[in-house]
Amino acid sequence: MIPYNQSSVSTLQTKERKIDVFSVEGNVDNETVKSFGEEWTAFDSFNETEIYNAGDNYFDIVPETILKHITNALDVGCGTGRWSYYLSEKVGFIECIDPSEAVIAASSLLSGKNNIRISKAGVDNIPFADGTFDFVFSLGVLHHVPDTKKAVHACVQKLKMNGHILLYLYYNLENRGLIFKTLFHLSNSLRWMVSKLPGAIKRFVCDLLAIVIYMPFVIVSRILIKLNLAASVVSRVPLSWYADKSFNIIRNDSLDRFGTPLEQRFSKQQITDMLIHAGCTDIVFADNAPFWRVIAKKK
Ligand SMILES: C[S@@+](CC[C@H](N)C(=O)[O-])C[C@H]1O[C@@H](n2cnc3c(N)ncnc32)[C@H](O)[C@@H]1O
Repeated sequence: MIPYNQSSVSTLQTKERKIDVFSVEGNVDNETVKSFGEEWTAFDSFNETEIYNAGDNYFDIVPETILKHITNALDVGCGTGRWSYYLSEKVGFIECIDPSEAVIAASSLLSGKNNIRISKAGVDNIPFADGTFDFVFSLGVLHHVPDTKKAVHACVQKLKMNGHILLYLYYNLENRGLIFKTLFHLSNSLRWMVSKLPGAIKRFVCDLLAIVIYMPFVIVSRILIKLNLAASVVSRVPLSWYADKSFNIIRNDSLDRFGTPLEQRFSKQQITDMLIHAGCTDIVFADNAPFWRVIAKKK
């Protein structure tokens, strides 16, 4: 456990533990945080196999040699805490932070994990001293804050020298063709409308979208896989990444995709520039979906 570098403003008692709450201000979109709080309390039931399979996919660019030397890790924007759950047996201690009510879901998922602490805090005010962590990871989070470059910098600040950061930031479809880009622009207009709906209606609409938008592509991808077509062919089908994912994950991602007010997208070059600006080197991008996952070292 890492000592806090400031006092909490209050505490939140969940069924499983007491969570320290820190002030959240500045680089945060409150509507987005509220929406995630609702989302993660609706999707708090992940099964272990699903977490391990998806985790292998997200963490495949983190070499074992790095993992085994991680004493202290920081999960920025932990949501339900599924990635900390995945990492908990591989590393020493994990500090999880998230500014939303998702911490309640995380408390439940991580209830048996004694090497994890959860705090309610945002990336604008991470309650630990700079230069503290061996590993910082933030998956699917920093594209939902107003100033991603500043947020990346804030995360890197918390790393020890030679520590590593793993990020997953939505890509701007730079490596895709016209069909993908057109579908994205259509879905983005839809997101603009759906994200403004009240909670329960939004969840219902996103479930419908999971069925009518995601599932047709998923079914086509599954058929192509059954027909033994090459992975390079299957990957041309939009949303083919979900071919081996459960419907629960697809529903969750549909809500994530269409229900979130603030979402930004970045090119590889923009992410590289942000990491260099934050003081990183050895920047390596994954060449498989989901894009862009990147690992870098603090100089
Ligand atoms: C798509 S979810 C990802 C959660 C988790 N990392 C995962 O992949 O399962 C995005 C998370 O970012 C959190 N978030 C939003 N704004 C944030 C901020 N300013 N600082 C830290 N986390 C934030 C949300 O509350 C939400 O839990």
